[in-house]
Amino acid sequence: MRLTVIGCGYLGAVHAAAMASIGHEVVGIDVDEGKVESLSRGEAPFFEPDLQELLTAGVDSGALRFTTDIAAARGARVHFIAVGTPQQQGGYAADLTYVDAAVEALLPHLAPGDIVAGKSTVPVGTAARLAELIEPTGAVLVWNPEFLREGWAVKDTVEPDRLVVGVADGPDAGTVVETMKAVYHTAVAADTPFLVTDWATAELVKVAANAFLATKISFINAMAEIAEVTGADVTQLADAIGHDARIGRRFLGAGIGFGGGCLPKDIRAFAARAEELGRGESVGFLREVDAINLRRRDRAVELVVESLGGSVYEKRVTLLGAAFKPHSDDIRDSPALDVAVRLRGLGASVTVTDPAAIDNARRLHPQLNYVEDRDEALRGADAIVLVTEWDEYRRELTPEHTATLTDGRVVVDGRNGWDAAAWRAAGFAYHGMGRR
Ligand code: UDX
Repeated sequence: MRLTVIGCGYLGAVHAAAMASIGHEVVGIDVDEGKVESLSRGEAPFFEPDLQELLTAGVDSGALRFTTDIAAARGARVHFIAVGTPQQQGGYAADLTYVDAAVEALLPHLAPGDIVAGKSTVPVGTAARLAELIEPTGAVLVWNPEFLREGWAVKDTVEPDRLVVGVADGPDAGTVVETMKAVYHTAVAADTPFLVTDWATAELVKVAANAFLATKISFINAMAEIAEVTGADVTQLADAIGHDARIGRRFLGAGIGFGGGCLPKDIRAFAARAEELGRGESVGFLREVDAINLRRRDRAVELVVESLGGSVYEKRVTLLGAAFKPHSDDIRDSPALDVAVRLRGLGASVTVTDPAAIDNARRLHPQLNYVEDRDEALRGADAIVLVTEWDEYRRELTPEHTATLTDGRVVVDGRNGWDAAAWRAAGFAYHGMGRR
């Protein structure tokens, strides 16, 4: 099938390459010339495992191409809208400028029977508004949210755990659903749950899922705050409650909390939209979820200060990690970098290392000292802080090896990823978050 993907960022580039890999003919469209040039050469403009291989294969076979020319959308059966919906400048609501611009630009190229499939995360009610613009062309709008996780984006796109398609009632609904099943034919053949809903439900599924995940993380971080004043251990607590199948252990990792391009802005946009709908109190708890999350960054800074005797001034502190999570070079709202910047603000001499995110981090925070090589970054440090749980740090770095590099014997584990006993046995003062 011929498909268009409008917006070639973390979501769209992966979606375009994944769709080409399952047999479709795909055109990716973006306004950013640099991004289009890089993608056209088969080069991923950001770090995402497996994307490079998929892009190269798609571009080489001719099934996948990229352009800045929106007219290239003409003749495709399904047009995916995959542009960003960042947090508004000076507000909490989502900025829909890119979604609106993409739809406006697409309108002249739509033909009767085309499907426009919204993938961007939007405030509930957006699909109904966009449909009024799209319907006069004879095209049909569906809402088809994406649940991919960065670092696993290719796998999540090719083998999603569920597919959700929001359609309006009408004579075309059956054909539209069949077409969307044909798009995702490999997942459908693998019996992936395929849920057909209305637009509003499809829009809400995405924000509700992210709100739930954020709440789960902040819940365990709230327990970490209680553990800190009672001498309890939040990791053992999470293990114990996680054995209850109704609760589950995943997303109960206490530490410096969540960041990235989705969870923080999505919960804020959801709260803002609920206010507009007169139901602010229904998701009022999301403000608390946000506040707990941000407090954990303060706590990590406090722990470093305390562990260095009350001041970090002129102390050498090495942060292991810059990305908001491992397997990604994304530094949007990264708790890791936030902690680094704050420590520098307190006078510490901060060194940051990361296997993938240094270039992005340097562009945003040129004032920090970046060192590519992990061991070089550790050399001479007074304290080290684990802020992104890459395997290179969490699994591969041993306390014994670290002791040969650092001057000080202080570790702050901002992701509760290390074995406290092993670090203590090697002579380090170990400080976890909500851990004894
Ligand atoms: C999220 C959703 O998981 C995904 O379904 C949606 O499509 C987009 O938003 P992503 O932003 O890639 O995906 O990251 P995710 O894996 O959810 O992690 C978000 C943040 O939470 C990271 O900063 C991570 O370090 C943190 N986190 C995660 C915790 O602090 N504790 C946990 O137990 C899990």
